[in-house]
Amino acid sequence: MPTALTLSGSIRQASYNRMLQDHMDRKLQAAGVCVNSIDLADFAMPIFNEDLEAEQTPDAAGRLAELWRSHDIVFIATPEYNGGVPPLLVNAITWISRQRPSPFRNAVFGIGGVSSGKYGTIFSLSHLRESLTKVGALVVPTLLGIGPAAEAFDANGDFIEPAIVRKIDQMVHELTHFSRG
Ligand SMILES: Cc1cc2nc3c(=O)[nH]c(=O)nc-3n(C[C@H](O)[C@H](O)[C@H](O)COP(=O)(O)O)c2cc1C
Repeated sequence: MPTALTLSGSIRQASYNRMLQDHMDRKLQAAGVCVNSIDLADFAMPIFNEDLEAEQTPDAAGRLAELWRSHDIVFIATPEYNGGVPPLLVNAITWISRQRPSPFRNAVFGIGGVSSGKYGTIFSLSHLRESLTKVGALVVPTLLGIGPAAEAFDANGDFIEPAIVRKIDQMVHELTHFSRG
């Protein structure tokens, strides 16, 4: 059975990206994937700097890197902050990028995001894709930018717009059919 790790770049209570993560968890499970859904709040790390790193790498960085290494699929839901990737996610990726073996070269990656703006995180997704690709990740092509957030979900946490429902299905298909093997 394939395995997936899912996470969100927002640890805000009532986060829309956490809702996207939860939705993907259900969709991946329905596709026969064993899902490990984590919360970055459980992986607290100081803002990266090389002096700190020289003293000690936080235990959370090693744990998170091992999770990224040991699943077949990694799905990341990200907010967009000022047209970019939020600092929580950038910081986590920065710390684990220093871990060996690489945490980016095993899994197939999917990225998506929900934001309050009508462009629906397409700018942050573009930055995230470029950064992950730069460090060796294979990111599936579906552009899963969703917004405005307040109009996106129904009462069950499912997506209302048929085009988004199709994109989620496409993302699940890509994540379960693409392989680095
Ligand atoms: C510092 C900051 C910058 C933001 N910049 C953007 C932006 O560039 N584009 C956008 O669509 N929304 C922007 N937003 C609004 C977020 O999309 C909104 O807060 C969203 O709900 C965050 O995701 P979450 O619900 O998962 O926490 C910004 C929010 C914050 C706090």
